[in-house]
Amino acid sequence: MKFFVDTADTDAIRDLNELNLIDGVTTNPSLIMKAGRDIKEVTKEICDMVDGPVSAETVALDAEGMINEGHELKKIADNIAIKVPLTLDGLKACKHLTDEGHMVNVTLCFSANQALLAAKAGATFISPFIGRLDDLNIDGMDLIQDIRTIYDNYGFETQILAASIRTANHMKEAALIGADVATAPPAVIKSMANHVMTDKGIDAFLKDWEKTGQKIL
Ligand code: E4P
Repeated sequence: MKFFVDTADTDAIRDLNELNLIDGVTTNPSLIMKAGRDIKEVTKEICDMVDGPVSAETVALDAEGMINEGHELKKIADNIAIKVPLTLDGLKACKHLTDEGHMVNVTLCFSANQALLAAKAGATFISPFIGRLDDLNIDGMDLIQDIRTIYDNYGFETQILAASIRTANHMKEAALIGADVATAPPAVIKSMANHVMTDKGIDAFLKDWEKTGQKIL
């Protein structure tokens, strides 16, 4: 499973990149607002840092506008994945942009039927939003499972990008189901390394080591 980090915070991306923990980045208008930076400037900085796909989102509501914005965003760097919303216009823009050879991430997916349409439109990535479904008391993981089944039934190559991930448990469940990618905030990715027994074990080993009076270096 590939890991993307869901942020426009370049310090956090640099940190995770140095830990070799990420294969790409996703951004959205809210994350750009949170970063308080110019979209083109910050996205260029991110693309220079990370080899994998960097999703940058269009904001037009009509297909033509999305295509034009996609072309503009694509000028930033070769590794841009153009993000379009899962609407009929978004699907039209997706087909057009993928036919031109661009990576397209179809975002704001909340149903298996939406994901089926995105695959038929040739999307590179489909982004089902797990956390936002959980907020409605609908199990977001059921959606990931349904999409996995449908895509496998027909051999669709669209990659399932589990999004709106809130916990390390979401990462585990998405991996068990077979999501191709998961995008999560920096803190969630880092928290996957945590276990209280690991901390306790280190503590006990160090105490015993001190008693030996030895040094390795
Ligand atoms: C995905 O591409 C989105 O940017 C993101 O995962 C949304 O997550 P949120 O529901 O936590 O805002």
